[in-house]
Amino acid sequence: MTDSSKTATLTIDGTSYDLPLLSPTAGPNVIDIRKLYAQAGVFTYDPGYTSTASCDSTITYIDGAKGELLHRGYPIDQLAEKSHYLEVCYLLLYDNLPTAAELEAFEATITRHTMIHEQMHNFFRGFRRDAHPMATMVGVVGAMSAFYHDSTDISDPRQREIASHRMIAKMPTIAAMAYKYSIGQPFVYPRNDLDYASNFLHMCFAVPAEQYEVDPILSRAMDRIFILHADHEQNASTSTVRLASSSGANPFACIAAGIACLWGPAHGGANQACLEMLKEIGSVDRIPEFIARAKDKDDPFRLMGFGHRVYKNFDPRAKVMKQSADEVLDLLGIENNPVLQVAKELEKQALDDPYFAEKKLFPNVDFYSGIILEAMGFPTSMFTPIFALSRTVGWISQWKEQLSDPAHKIGRPRQLYLGETAREYVDVEDR
Ligand code: CMC
Repeated sequence: MTDSSKTATLTIDGTSYDLPLLSPTAGPNVIDIRKLYAQAGVFTYDPGYTSTASCDSTITYIDGAKGELLHRGYPIDQLAEKSHYLEVCYLLLYDNLPTAAELEAFEATITRHTMIHEQMHNFFRGFRRDAHPMATMVGVVGAMSAFYHDSTDISDPRQREIASHRMIAKMPTIAAMAYKYSIGQPFVYPRNDLDYASNFLHMCFAVPAEQYEVDPILSRAMDRIFILHADHEQNASTSTVRLASSSGANPFACIAAGIACLWGPAHGGANQACLEMLKEIGSVDRIPEFIARAKDKDDPFRLMGFGHRVYKNFDPRAKVMKQSADEVLDLLGIENNPVLQVAKELEKQALDDPYFAEKKLFPNVDFYSGIILEAMGFPTSMFTPIFALSRTVGWISQWKEQLSDPAHKIGRPRQLYLGETAREYVDVEDR
């Protein structure tokens, strides 16, 4: 971040205040209002933070107009095509792509942290079988702070690093265990001879009674889904992690807060909601009815998997995801999948509709991810846990960045108060 030579001037009741303009390496300039209240005695008002930068960061850059997503400068489509998830994790955590030796060491570290404390199995058994796996994950990840005491001291960089490695390594195990518990099958322990994505598929789909071979094409598709969800700058769950962390909370509690936020249907829950919507539509001839509902201001229905706060032309992740959907369905020999047909036709009709064009609403990453995950055999309830495990590295990288900044402060937004002003208490018999 460099100080621009320009300033912005704010005039209130004839008094002018010069506010510094900060120049990012990419994207619009940012007006620095940190001293505004002290100087002018006013707050700014921005519910939903549509115009507010809450931090500075070097991790991820999105240009919503261009449909560009960069991690440490590398375009997401190049990472999805040429890299693999653990390399992207290294990139997000440590600023640069690893050398071969660094990558080998990182993969070895992550692989050797995949098991969870045996006593944690009791947590899973305490939940009802029909609990949503996200509910289980919020609880179990929060409970990690009760097990890994040697990595909760956030003032120690080494403890922070160990906590990071533990969460990246254990999140697939936790997500898979939540799934296995929900279907009444025994937990499957991680296998360190498998790569990250294959190990996750193995923990989800293997059973003790028979041999399970991970298909390399499915493993590659799984890995790609992990990459496409790895980080997305200051979205709702990441901002939640940063806000939780700003009070000095332990790392596992912060990530549990991120998982809770991600669960909502406007954020990570959209992939589940999208597939359920595609199934509810059911056939191509019912699409106009649902498009009409999405456009009706009196109907709360929205097209799930459509629209994005930042992307206003296309979501670059959706392009890769659509290609993966075709590949996976082809591999599995799923021809004429009715859900895929509805998805493709819905996309076409919505994009041709002036309502969606005017509001710049395009398919987002979640529009096709559910189709792939379902084809792989995951129930819809596992879609958001898979998003959560993929996004864990993004949350952790942003958390690490925040804590490494000596100037970081507790997050404490202001408000526009519209309630009663001070009034005298009235005794109950006099009301
Ligand atoms: N279907 C119909 N209308 C929509 C949709 C939609 N999916 N999304 C936005 N709009 C309309 C909205 O009604 C509003 O219209 P108006 O200006 O007339 O009031 C306008 O478009 C702007 O919408 P907004 O809600 O102000 O935009 P936002 O930036 O606050 O919301 C969003 C972004 C993603 C929450 C929203 O587009 C949405 O709810 N989409 C469906 C859920 C979804 O797919 N979420 C996944 C996001 S990508 C994964 C992730 O990063 O979490």
